[in-house]
Amino acid sequence: MSGLSKLSMLSINKLSYSFGGERAIFDQISLDVNSGEFVSVIGASGSGKSTLFKLITGLLAPEQGEIQIKGQHSGKRTGSVGYMPQKDLLLPWRTVVENVLLPIEIAKESKQRKLPAVREWLDRFGLAAYENAYPGELSGGMRQRVAFLRTLMTGKDLLLLDEPFGALDSLTKRKMHSWLLGLWGELQKTVLFITHDLEEAILLSDRIYVLKGDRGVQEVKVKLSRPRKAELIYETEFMRMRKELEWLIQDEN
Ligand SMILES: Nc1ncnc2c1ncn2[C@@H]1O[C@H](COP(=O)(O)OP(=O)(O)O)[C@@H](O)[C@H]1O
Ligand SMILES: [Mg+2]
Repeated sequence: MSGLSKLSMLSINKLSYSFGGERAIFDQISLDVNSGEFVSVIGASGSGKSTLFKLITGLLAPEQGEIQIKGQHSGKRTGSVGYMPQKDLLLPWRTVVENVLLPIEIAKESKQRKLPAVREWLDRFGLAAYENAYPGELSGGMRQRVAFLRTLMTGKDLLLLDEPFGALDSLTKRKMHSWLLGLWGELQKTVLFITHDLEEAILLSDRIYVLKGDRGVQEVKVKLSRPRKAELIYETEFMRMRKELEWLIQDEN
C-alpha cells in the first residue's frame, strides 16, 4: 500500500534447499517482495516456512539459486533484515528495555543516545510501566510486543516475522493486527509474515505465497481494499479466498 514505487525489496530466484541432501524442502522456488508490501507465507506445518526465513537472513545457505535484498547478492545478507524468530527468544535475565536495546548494542551504537526514542516506543506499545520488568513477568501479548519492538529497533526496512501472533488468543490477536497494520503504514516497512492462520493472512496481506513442499510455491493476490475491518471475515469474497487457501495448503492440490 505504502509502496508507491515498485522497487524490489526481496527477490528469490530458483532457490533449492534440503537438510543434508535429504528430501528437498525447496525445489527451485521463486518469489518477490516489493518495497512497502505486506506479504504472507502460509503452508502446512513442516512445509519450510521457518527454513525460508533462515535462508533469507543468511543463517542457512541456499544449495542453488539466488536471494537478493535490494538487489544485493547473498553472502552479505546477514544483518540486512529485521528478523523475529518463531520463538520470541527474549533474554530472560534482561529487563524489557535491555532486551529492546539489544540490536543497538550489537550494532555498537550508543544506547544512551537511543534511550529516549526507545522509551517513547515502549510507551506507544503500552509497555512504559514494564520497562524494568523481566520477560517472565509479562503476558504473551506483551512479550510479543517486546520481541517486535526489538525487531523494529534493528532499523531495517524488511521485517521477517515468523508466526508473531501464533500463541495469542483471538481477541489479543485482533488488537495486534490493527496495531501492526498501523505501524506498517506509518513506518513504510516491508513485511514478510509467516502464519498458519488463514484469516490473519488475508486480513493483513497484499499477497500470499502458499508453500506446497516439493510442488513449489503459489501466489495468491488479496484484492480487498484497505483499511480492512475485522468484520470482513463474514463477507463473501473473504470466505471465497479462505476456501481457496484451505484447498491450496492441502497436500494433494
Ligand atoms: N535443522 C534441521 N535439520 C533437519 N531438518 C530440519 C531442520 N529444521 C527443520 N527441519 C525440517 O524441515 C522441514 C521444514 O521445517 P520448518 O521450516 O521449520 O517448517 P515450518 O516452519 O513450515 O513448520 C520439516 O520437515 C522439519 O522437520
Ligand atoms: Mg515454523
